[in-house]
Amino acid sequence: MYETLVRDTDQPVPQPPVGSGGVHVTGLGKRFGDLWALRNFSITVTPGTVLGLLGHNGAGKTTAIRILTTLSQPTEGRATVAGFDVVRDAATVRQHIGVASQQATVDGLMSARLNLQTIGRLYGMPRREARERGDALLEQLDLTSFADGLVRTYSGGMRRRLDLAASLMNRPAVLFLDEPTTGLDPLSRSSLWDMLRDLVSEGTTVILTTQYLEEADQLADDIVVLDHGETVAHGTPQDLKSRIGEQRLDVHISDITQLVAAQQTLLPYADSEPIIDEAECVITVPIKPGTRIVDVVRTLDDAGIDAIDVARREATLDDVFVALTHKTQTERPNNASPQEQS
Ligand SMILES: Nc1ncnc2c1ncn2[C@@H]1O[C@H](COP(=O)(O)OP(=O)(O)OP(=O)(O)O)[C@@H](O)[C@H]1O
Ligand SMILES: [Mg+2]
Repeated sequence: MYETLVRDTDQPVPQPPVGSGGVHVTGLGKRFGDLWALRNFSITVTPGTVLGLLGHNGAGKTTAIRILTTLSQPTEGRATVAGFDVVRDAATVRQHIGVASQQATVDGLMSARLNLQTIGRLYGMPRREARERGDALLEQLDLTSFADGLVRTYSGGMRRRLDLAASLMNRPAVLFLDEPTTGLDPLSRSSLWDMLRDLVSEGTTVILTTQYLEEADQLADDIVVLDHGETVAHGTPQDLKSRIGEQRLDVHISDITQLVAAQQTLLPYADSEPIIDEAECVITVPIKPGTRIVDVVRTLDDAGIDAIDVARREATLDDVFVALTHKTQTERPNNASPQEQS
């Protein structure tokens, strides 16, 4: 419980060296036995901006967050957070960060109010300040009416919000959020996004992981896509979208047995390989500029393929993600190699 908090001294919290805020990461790596969970991870996050870490399950997102929040030691490389080294100055780093991890960090057997007060006290706040800060955050996160209920009776969404409140108690310079909106309903999700935007506009630096690409698109200034621990892409949401071609055609086929034939038929219009979604019976085609839908429909018809719907749209981050992680998912079952032992 409260594993990221330390207060072993009443000394004032050291302030970051001038001009060294944000996060700087160079060649960070973490190995578990034969498996490199993270490798060659390098990034600079400017203060007051949001970095989104994207990747499939097991890509290395939580591993990166755990190292940057001092919960885990890197195997190689180094990182500073708010100007302090995550290994050498771990205790100081903890004073300047907030963390909402994938597992709930609040205590289920206490009320929300008491949880936040306890965290405030652990950070060295006087009792009254801890209470006032906690109550203000409960209000901000719409938890006031449940503030005195035991946290174990909370719904998943309420708990996520309380985790976020807990991570904000010390007014962190850098906030780490590991899948902050998993399990939230759309309304809670968008109100949490608004709250994060406010924090960022006030200068907070945010690193978040998410499975929701729309979330990254909405919030992140910069995105890193991880796959098997490696960085496979890095750029702004717009950079990444334009890198894979802007326009997509979603072709919905009525008969699943025609999917492969349809994919072949669509090749002349494709800029890169069309992607089959068997579950939805949809083929997504990154189309060549100037492609006319009427031609596509006619070609499908001539080939005897029954298309229910053909729709043109702009590329989304989902497309980026599929395009970038698709091959490595199937071609690289494991990134470990025996020589990498040390
Ligand atoms: N303590 C550990 N011991 C051994 N292997 C680990 C440990 N922690 C993580 N791993 C492995 O490292 C890889 C990366 O895990 P990580 O938790 O960072 O992924 P993730 O991107 O956060 O995934 P998810 O989306 O499921 O949360 C996985 O293959 C995982 O099994
Ligand atoms: Mg994770």
